[in-house]
Amino acid sequence: MKHILVTGGAGFIGSNYINHILQERDDYFIVNLDKLTYAGNLENLKASENNPRYTFVKGDITNHELVDYLFKKFDIRYVINFAAESHVDRSILGSQIFYQTNVIGTNVLLEAARRHNVERFLQVSTDEVEGLFTESTPLSPNSPYSSSKTAADMMAMAFYHTYGMPVLITRCSNNYGPLQFPEKLIPLMIINALHDKKLPVYGDGKNVRDWIYVIDHNRAIDLVFNNGRLGEVYNIGASTEMYNIDIVKLILKELGKTESLIEYVKDRPGHDRRYAIDSTKIQTELGWKPEYNFADAISKTIRWYLDNKEWWERIISGAYTQYYQKQYGNK
Ligand code: NAD
Ligand code: DAU
Repeated sequence: MKHILVTGGAGFIGSNYINHILQERDDYFIVNLDKLTYAGNLENLKASENNPRYTFVKGDITNHELVDYLFKKFDIRYVINFAAESHVDRSILGSQIFYQTNVIGTNVLLEAARRHNVERFLQVSTDEVEGLFTESTPLSPNSPYSSSKTAADMMAMAFYHTYGMPVLITRCSNNYGPLQFPEKLIPLMIINALHDKKLPVYGDGKNVRDWIYVIDHNRAIDLVFNNGRLGEVYNIGASTEMYNIDIVKLILKELGKTESLIEYVKDRPGHDRRYAIDSTKIQTELGWKPEYNFADAISKTIRWYLDNKEWWERIISGAYTQYYQKQYGNK
């Protein structure tokens, strides 16, 4: 049995990973350490909560004592670090928590992993550290968020070179799919459109993002986790570059709503014009390729938000706290 510490597993990508991978693999025992920030949601893990190979611990990755205790208690041999402050706009409003969690938190995990001689440590990173293209492109982060992720990547690599730690890094493009917090472009636009509210498009709407369905990302993570070469970075992307405005129009069309809901608003400061990731390396070296095409997967995603109104209504009405208390007590 592989004893894996998965951090940030109550967020969008981490919860999709846990729910998916516990079905796929019967040799994983997962300890999910999550602080349950505004973005963490135990409801996302309903499919896994009764699985005997899964356990949840509420806590902060910056807490040395707790992290050390968990390594000992659960005999952790592997780490997959999803935990992060993940939203660029929030990082522009206040950067401190981003460096605290994304940099210091990663350091606490790496140090604990080093003390406990883990067999693999996978750092989940982002194409935003590169902006354009390959694993060897000079890093060029432009937001507090991406600079904090860059620092974490460089730290993880330093631990590989200095201490010989078994580190791997994945850098993925923009994810979409079920359970994404409705501050990110796609869920925000779906929900605003359903309420006939304005859809705020930054700048001229011609910024380009490269979209991937969350399950394809998670399949790639698991492949790198098991078969990736130590000390290597793997880009993950589905070669689906889209203008933001085209995504917004597509959502409106699927929902039968008018384009007059679109409102061009002041641009995001430091807004990166284009991300496009070259994932040739993971494709040729590990044989990964995306399974979902954008047209089908975006329809599936929109359908999920239509079918799961209660999930996002609780979030946007701020009814979260009371709901947690009722469902999960002080977990
Ligand atoms: P998310 O914001 O939905 O979830 C983050 C999770 O981390 C939440 O459950 C939160 O409670 C938890 N968390 C935050 N601070 C913590 C702390 N100090 N200790 C413990 N838990 C903490 O984020 P996401 O979109 O699921 O992203 C997951 C990871 O993937 C991040 O590292 C992000 O940088 C990376 N990533 C995201 C995307 C994307 O498109 N969303 C793309 C590439 C990489
Ligand atoms: O590229 C990977 C990154 O993708 C991840 O590392 C981040 O964690 C994740 O948040 C995401 O970052 P982006 O900034 O690209 O995602 P976001 O959904 O915030 O915005 C996508 C694009 O849409 C971006 O160009 C900004 C624009 N946008 C976003 C919002 C929320 C708008 O035009 N209007 C909006 O209201």
